Amino acid sequence: MKTVTVAILAAGLGTRMKSRQAKVLHRAGGKPLVEHVVSTALELAAPERIFVVVGHQAEEVRDALQSHGVGFIEQREQKGTGHAVMIGREALADLDGYLLILYGDCPLLRIETLRSLITAAMRGSAAGVLLSADMDDPTGYGRVIRDEYGLVEAVVEQKAGTPEQLAIREANMGIYCYRAHLFWKHVDEIRPDNPAREYYLTDMVRILRHAGHTVEAMKIADPGEALGINTRIELAEVDAIFRDRKRRELMLAGVTIENPPTVTIDAGVEIGMDTVIGPFAQILGNTRIGENCRVGTGAIVEDSELADGAEIGAYCVLTKGKLAAGAQVGPFARLRPGAVVEEGAHVGNFVELKNTRLGAGAKANHLAYLGDAQIGAGVNIGAGTITCNYDGHRKHRTTIGEGAFVGSNSTLVAPVEIGAGSYVAAGSAITDAVPADALAVGRARQVLKEDWARKRRALQKQAV
Ligand code: UD1
Ligand code: MG
Repeated sequence: MKTVTVAILAAGLGTRMKSRQAKVLHRAGGKPLVEHVVSTALELAAPERIFVVVGHQAEEVRDALQSHGVGFIEQREQKGTGHAVMIGREALADLDGYLLILYGDCPLLRIETLRSLITAAMRGSAAGVLLSADMDDPTGYGRVIRDEYGLVEAVVEQKAGTPEQLAIREANMGIYCYRAHLFWKHVDEIRPDNPAREYYLTDMVRILRHAGHTVEAMKIADPGEALGINTRIELAEVDAIFRDRKRRELMLAGVTIENPPTVTIDAGVEIGMDTVIGPFAQILGNTRIGENCRVGTGAIVEDSELADGAEIGAYCVLTKGKLAAGAQVGPFARLRPGAVVEEGAHVGNFVELKNTRLGAGAKANHLAYLGDAQIGAGVNIGAGTITCNYDGHRKHRTTIGEGAFVGSNSTLVAPVEIGAGSYVAAGSAITDAVPADALAVGRARQVLKEDWARKRRALQKQAV
């Protein structure tokens, strides 16, 4: 399929979305709509042969697709689907072979369907093949008009159709594969001679017929596949379809998902065999989860990595976190960017880690904030420990050596170093370095006043 060039139309605003954001940037299955279409196109053509027609929020659409290496064509004014392709002449017309036209708001289309469309265009003698489907309610779609021999004659838009034409149930899905040289030879014959004053791409069917060619229609069984998103209701429906596809794919690959409809997993997520995902979990972005892991109920895991056997308890929030094999986090823990939990280490409830490495087998089991810290293997972080990493201007680091024991409710004022094997007494405010194997007590000594309370009560009684 080397000779296929793909044009993806994505310049429209999408008025019916009622949004300031261009329609193709709205997300379904965790990706902008247009990115789904680009991913599909990349299965069929090299990035140098894929062009996205951008207009509304052109800059943002480019940014969203930059990493894929595809080209862009700017349509400054949206004068119709025909116009959107015509303005690409300079970039596209020299590319021989076949021109596949896709819509940026049509993300469900399957690669196999497009392969069949391309094959049909290559095999026959037609100038092009369009995708069509018999719909129960084709309202809003262009209708495929056939002549007495059943050959495609034209596509008539909803607004322009006669009552007889509108009674036709075969709808144009708006996806085409044309022989490139014939397409470019005739495309300028599209005129904006309709009430909307738009250049309709659909006119190509009639134009090519007039020039003595044929255009065929390839019917697909499921029009749902070519569903174009126009409203947020359709967006939610398509999102649900993507989520379902992803969950099924993972379950078939050996992942247990409890109460699947409640679980959200983005398209780019990878999960290994025998991992169990609890109800209401959300696994997002580029997260990679190994085998035999567990993600608890309601956990939100984004752009994170879990090695084999790592576990996240219920209601944890992880963003750009990393868990080594057998690490355990949660329930109710928060890992912010740069948190690394090494092999077998434990992070318990109400513990927050940011830009912090917790060494192998170390434990921070309750109520702590550990930010900008390097914590050695086997360290015990007592409940309520806080790294004071911010002085109001800058962030500072805390370093804790292997096997150190930090007592409960310690305040570690960074920059500070706590040596390997040392002890920090509970309730200490540590402002100076603690050498290895030392004990640091950084709190006021306890004062005891015998009988003080009894005397006070007696005084209070006298006063009444
Ligand atoms: C189009 C077809 C219709 C078909 C339907 C299928 C035409 C004239 N009609 O209608 O026969 O049944 O799709 O969904 O083609 N776009 C641009 N630049 C423009 C205009 C549109 O890039 O100037 C893009 C839009 O962003 C969108 C796509 O083209 O992604 C389709 O445009 P839209 O206005 O939705 O066409 P329909 O009215 O749905
Ligand atoms: Mg549309």
